[in-house]
Amino acid sequence: MLLDLLRSFVGEARCRMFDWRHGVQTCGTAELKGLTITGENATHGVFYHPSHPKFLFEVLGGLKIDYSQYTFVDLGSGKGRVLLVASEFPFREVVGVEFARELHEVAGKNIRDYRSGSQKCKKVQAIHGDATAFEFPPGPLVLFLANPFGPGVLVPVLRNLQKSLASNPRDVILLYTAAFHGNLVETETTLKCVEHSTYHNTYRTEV
Ligand SMILES: C[S@@+](CC[C@H](N)C(=O)[O-])C[C@H]1O[C@@H](n2cnc3c(N)ncnc32)[C@H](O)[C@@H]1O
Repeated sequence: MLLDLLRSFVGEARCRMFDWRHGVQTCGTAELKGLTITGENATHGVFYHPSHPKFLFEVLGGLKIDYSQYTFVDLGSGKGRVLLVASEFPFREVVGVEFARELHEVAGKNIRDYRSGSQKCKKVQAIHGDATAFEFPPGPLVLFLANPFGPGVLVPVLRNLQKSLASNPRDVILLYTAAFHGNLVETETTLKCVEHSTYHNTYRTEV
């Protein structure tokens, strides 16, 4: 109990430190009620609560890939913290998709304001829209899903991904945190679970 409290205090302090160091504002949570949502999928969406920077650095830093070949995509990108951390790696491009206008606008400002002497990818883009309307870019992908939505949106997103893979087979690594609907990844796509970790599952196309 005390340990949990201490952990959450340290986690929160790290998040605030990330914002302070980089001149951005990614902290806090936001209920979807009261935000301006694009499309019809608000009921399937999960409220904004950002992923922890330490976790993101560990997961992205542990990928054994040539980053420059991969586009990084965060579906449900909120205020853009994941995009900023991903830009610390030499990805070909970093893209986020967010359907709540207010969060998307904060993400855009964060991308512009981000201060870092170690940023490796300068091509960072926040798209305002519903994840179901996103067209997956060609080339190898690292997809990030921080449990952004339930099956009502996840299934069409996975079907779009599978269509894209069928017409253009390529390496796709899907990092899915709090993977409550992880079974759908394997039923709707040809990706296979290659790692179960405490906070996330990793799925990958067979290469
Ligand atoms: C749990 S938060 C994760 C935020 C960010 N990816 C992170 O890890 O820090 C989920 C985000 O997904 C967004 N979202 C939910 N459903 C969506 C949809 N259908 N299309 C685009 N964004 C969506 C929410 O507005 C929220 O910002």
